[in-house]
Amino acid sequence: MTKIRTVGVLGCGLMGSGIAEISAKAGYDTWIRELNDDLVARGRANVAKSLDRAVEKGKLDSNVRDEVLGRMRFTTSLEELKDVDIVIEAVTEDIDIKNEMFGVLDGVCGERTIFASNTSSLTIAAMAAATNRPHRFVGLHFFNPVPVMKLVEVVRTIAVDKDVFRETFEFAKTLGKEPVEAKDTSGFIVNRLLVPYMLDAIRCLEQGLATTEDIDKSMTLGTGYPMGPFTLCDFVGIDTLYYIAEIMFEEFRETRYAPPPLLRRMVSFGYFGRKTKRGFYDYSGEKPVAVDLGI
Ligand code: CAA
Repeated sequence: MTKIRTVGVLGCGLMGSGIAEISAKAGYDTWIRELNDDLVARGRANVAKSLDRAVEKGKLDSNVRDEVLGRMRFTTSLEELKDVDIVIEAVTEDIDIKNEMFGVLDGVCGERTIFASNTSSLTIAAMAAATNRPHRFVGLHFFNPVPVMKLVEVVRTIAVDKDVFRETFEFAKTLGKEPVEAKDTSGFIVNRLLVPYMLDAIRCLEQGLATTEDIDKSMTLGTGYPMGPFTLCDFVGIDTLYYIAEIMFEEFRETRYAPPPLLRRMVSFGYFGRKTKRGFYDYSGEKPVAVDLGI
């Protein structure tokens, strides 16, 4: 049994909106904080779209959708999160921005509030050590799309209180997820394995091994992956992959985590994947078409 009743979510982008949705669906009163009114409107629309899709598919009753939306409160103020039992941070992968927010919340929230970060690649220690509550700070790493992917990595630092860790682990189950315990090293379990795989696929493309489509086809039809590596890179976001790789390279100093030149170039030109309609594929037409990257 978890004592958590109210949840705060920082950021309502791709990950934050998914986390807010499953939290409210699980019955928690959920506060969602975004930087400004435009981002609040975008976040609210993301959640509504996802819930509407579930209603259209007959997976969710429209009354339940309204109840779920009714449990969500959007705000631009960090102070509104003062009474939540757990804060889950899902803002941009910038340690200064994250630590600034946690710094404010450290003064605003009660001393029992648990702080959690959905970081993909930073260590939890880098945030927890900057607060006055390192013993109440965990990692809660979800996967995209959050409402669909069953896994959550619950990250244990060397400083966390074991009851807080257990409580958070149980909380993850109440969100309908399968938690696994991971140690606090950059990338945790999934990205430790997935990021070098995606970077290797880019290196294969740079070296002219095969075409974008054929590498994707090989990994879907040859190994049963739901998406090929380039479709997955575009799905995760080319910019996001680049930042994750940089942080992991910084942590391990191993070349397998180093972003390949092609990835850098794509970031320079704003080829961020699906979100900009252009990455390894062009998404402006009816079907994705591989982009000519000059290889
Ligand atoms: N929100 C809610 N539901 C969604 C969704 C979304 N954004 N996208 C898809 N779904 C649902 C659909 O409604 C559908 O549900 P039903 O089967 O119940 O009808 C189901 O998911 C399957 O969707 P589709 O039929 O449209 O498409 P699909 O079969 O191709 O599946 C996918 C889509 C689930 C994304 C699948 O391709 C997949 O699993 N891809 C791999 C995703 C992955 O690897 N994610 C991890 C990325 S790494 C990460 O997130 C960590 C990090 O730190 C970078």
